[in-house]
Amino acid sequence: MSGHGQSFPMTARRGAALSGTAEVPGDKSISHRAMILGALAVGETRVTGLLEGQDVLDTARAMEAFGATVTRHGPGDWSVRGVGTGGFAEPADVIDCGNSGTGVRLIMGAMATTPITATFTGDASLRKRPMGRVTDPLALFGARAFGRAGGRLPMTVVGAADPVPVRYRLPVASAQVKSAVLLAGLNAPGETVVIEPEATRDHTERMLRGFGAHLAVEDGPEGRIITLTGQPELVAQSVAVPRDPSSAAFPVAAALIVPGSDILVPGVSQNPTRNGLFTTLVEMGADITFENPREEGGEPVADLRVRASALTGVEVPPDRAASMIDEYPVLSAIAALAEGPTVMRGVKELRVKESDRIDAMARGLEANGVTIEEGEDWFIVHGLGPDGVPGGATVASRLDHRIAMAFLVLGLAARAPVTVDDGSPIATSFPVFEPLMQGLGAGISRGAA
Ligand code: S3P
Repeated sequence: MSGHGQSFPMTARRGAALSGTAEVPGDKSISHRAMILGALAVGETRVTGLLEGQDVLDTARAMEAFGATVTRHGPGDWSVRGVGTGGFAEPADVIDCGNSGTGVRLIMGAMATTPITATFTGDASLRKRPMGRVTDPLALFGARAFGRAGGRLPMTVVGAADPVPVRYRLPVASAQVKSAVLLAGLNAPGETVVIEPEATRDHTERMLRGFGAHLAVEDGPEGRIITLTGQPELVAQSVAVPRDPSSAAFPVAAALIVPGSDILVPGVSQNPTRNGLFTTLVEMGADITFENPREEGGEPVADLRVRASALTGVEVPPDRAASMIDEYPVLSAIAALAEGPTVMRGVKELRVKESDRIDAMARGLEANGVTIEEGEDWFIVHGLGPDGVPGGATVASRLDHRIAMAFLVLGLAARAPVTVDDGSPIATSFPVFEPLMQGLGAGISRGAA
């Protein structure tokens, strides 16, 4: 049902310039939300451009377990026949969310105000991640959760029979927590209010409006205040999923560091709550042009033209962290090839992602000859310049797709090949990574060096 199948090493080595067009898959965050809101709407939601990564497939199966009908019509072309707000049925078995923190946290929210019980689990990575950040606010609605020590999966959530609406200020900048609260608020009477001190990705808000919910958003001194009116009738929609900026980050980074490269990455979401990496790369001296800006599926998108560039280390402002939280692994990989230090602060959340990403990047970069400094919520990569990274090491990908892809990008410009011990997690978010990168001419292949 979930998991990444058999593990296999992958290796990246220096080669010719990258060229061509990189059509990256659909956005993972939006794909999860399309499945979940489709399952809570009345009628048939059609989704095009869906990411067919393992994380989203696990969410699709979960929606079937809660009573929705999910059909695949062709590549990226899916439909979901929903059960209506509050219409979830009790699943007959444990819900396995695989590797996906987004999947499990959003689904817990979506079922927490319906009087059913569901038990959730996931892979070894997901079973280490904290769920209390979601079950604490869900308890305010009247839901109860019983998990392992530290709020870890497996965990059983008993939905509230008589939910009450909630006013909740996010203690961490997390779109997953915000979304879990909003999805729970759908089946509570009255107004559910979420206050986020720092803006996080706003796909849930955009999509809830698209499905017909009433949502008011105000910016005030406390941050963003989001007010959802409960118990709306959600109406099935057509959702066109834009391409994922977090996946685009990998070919973009690769083109910047492989001399002579010139690639096009079309139709990438430029949602301001997601585009912090591109801002940072431009500050580092990256030659990226944002062509043909337009709106697709309710999101701003552009075609990215990327040419190899001499990069200089920068200090990334902490208030940009939420808008590029998944991009720090690849940023730190290419920071190693920049001139001078790149300083990343306010990034404590990286410690509770699919792996402890500060530790995973620090250990892997050190093994490849790069000097790192780190603290609980910061790290500094001392760049060695475009020809300065020795490489030559095998790095543990730790069941973390973005760690695996970040080190494969590094290997394209390091002096000796870089190997990751397991490339299989890449399928969670970017199942076509290997052929897409090979199609650009990147020296990425299966096997050890
Ligand atoms: C996501 C939110 C982020 C991000 C994750 C996807 C989402 O997590 O890291 O990959 O779709 O809401 P947090 O909200 O916990 O920071």
